Amino acid sequence: MVYDLIVLGGGPAGCLASERAGHAGLKVLLIEKSNVGGVCLNEGCIPTKTLLYSAKLLDNAKSAEKYGITVSGISIDHRKVIERKNKVVRTLTVGVKSALKANGVTLVDGNGVIQGKDQDGFKVSVNEETYTGKRLLIATGSSPSVPPIPGLKEGLESGMVLTNREILNLNDVPEELVVIGGGVIGLEMASYFNSAGSKTTIIEMLDHIGGDNDSELTKLLQKEYEKKGINFHLNSRVTGIDTNGVHFEINGESKFVPAEKVLLSVGRRPNINGIGLENINVATQNGAIVTDDRMQTNIPDVYAAGDVNGRYMLAHTAYREAEVAVNNMLGKEDRMNYNAIPSVIYTNPELASVGETEAGALLKGMDIAVVKVPMRFSGRYLAENEGGNGVFKLVFDKKQGKVIGASALGNYSSEFIIACGIIIEKGLTLEDIKKTVFPHPTVCEVIREAVFQLNI
Ligand code: NAI
Repeated sequence: MVYDLIVLGGGPAGCLASERAGHAGLKVLLIEKSNVGGVCLNEGCIPTKTLLYSAKLLDNAKSAEKYGITVSGISIDHRKVIERKNKVVRTLTVGVKSALKANGVTLVDGNGVIQGKDQDGFKVSVNEETYTGKRLLIATGSSPSVPPIPGLKEGLESGMVLTNREILNLNDVPEELVVIGGGVIGLEMASYFNSAGSKTTIIEMLDHIGGDNDSELTKLLQKEYEKKGINFHLNSRVTGIDTNGVHFEINGESKFVPAEKVLLSVGRRPNINGIGLENINVATQNGAIVTDDRMQTNIPDVYAAGDVNGRYMLAHTAYREAEVAVNNMLGKEDRMNYNAIPSVIYTNPELASVGETEAGALLKGMDIAVVKVPMRFSGRYLAENEGGNGVFKLVFDKKQGKVIGASALGNYSSEFIIACGIIIEKGLTLEDIKKTVFPHPTVCEVIREAVFQLNI
């Protein structure tokens, strides 16, 4: 049998592409070596959010007095949190599997390796079997980066050093958690374990946390977390890990921080090895598969979507890339646009952004206007965030006369950042936004306020 499409990897990109292609009538084979749903569903986005919700409830209970509520005897049962996380993951996994089945997708459990191509199509081996497909979608995702730090390999082997996978299955909350890397994973996991009771330290090599996010907002986030007791060491280079903790250097000075567990969260690398890309000469660059804006690789009928193309390692980007790939396979014109990809760090408070930051736009030499609105402008924010220091920032390109970026620190940002995404993606004018009715009272009213405050 010749499949219309063979998909390698059942994460967000692979599963959604399979569903869409199956729905459109293609005969689809999906190969997954671990669990369907991939990192996002099993050891990333979803499990993390269940943990963070428990932490948020705990934080809220601890600060309930500020809201006129007396609470006593609050504690966290970490094992129950993990049990609930596993239940949420199981429920969603069942859902994904049934969606695949409903769309006629054949799911094969195993490690798929591309063997080559003949007149019938691409040959992919799984276990002892070889399958043939007219098209391929490579959606093999990414794995944690493991830098050459002395003692790191041994720490990973002994279980003292954890990645995003193992930390989500810890039975107990460590006394001391040291997080290497103050990016998305590091901040989210530090957020949970700090709330759950670990003495938490973040070691970051740059002079700021939160990657490319607006630095003014990441500084405010850092302040919030310092208030909660997290220690930050910025501009710090990890020099070694031993069974007692982590050694690092800051301004040439050697330091040590004790750790029961260490989380390694210094970025991820696309999974391009061991899948037979060389057998059909798929081009890679900087360790990622090269794709065009139709998500096609250099080889006709071979597409790549999700983390493996190394563009944006975000599940929501993977979903859209998967749709673009399938639409092009079906002969429907569709191109990927990366101008308005929202990004969220689900800390408490949340940090969300889309499009350009102020610093990014200035670096590109753009003539911009920036407006900053304290979240406290919103009645709802004020009512629900006693002492909150949230900020909303809008970046406007004077030349194009359009909004090109937005960043928000404060809860509900994750839910309303998409409104800014639509404004950017659709090129809405300031007049369009001014004439739009926003629900009151909501935190997203800061968007409208920012537009009215733009002095141009
Ligand atoms: P990241 O790229 O977000 O952050 C890594 C951090 O580690 C950076 O700040 C970097 O400067 C620092 N770093 C690198 N080497 C270091 C070293 N030797 N010592 C100290 N610091 C070092 O990567 P992260 O957090 O591992 O996340 C991986 C991917 O997963 C990201 O691409 C992210 O987008 C995705 N993700 C997204 C989430 C979300 O959307 N909420 C949640 C979790 C992960």
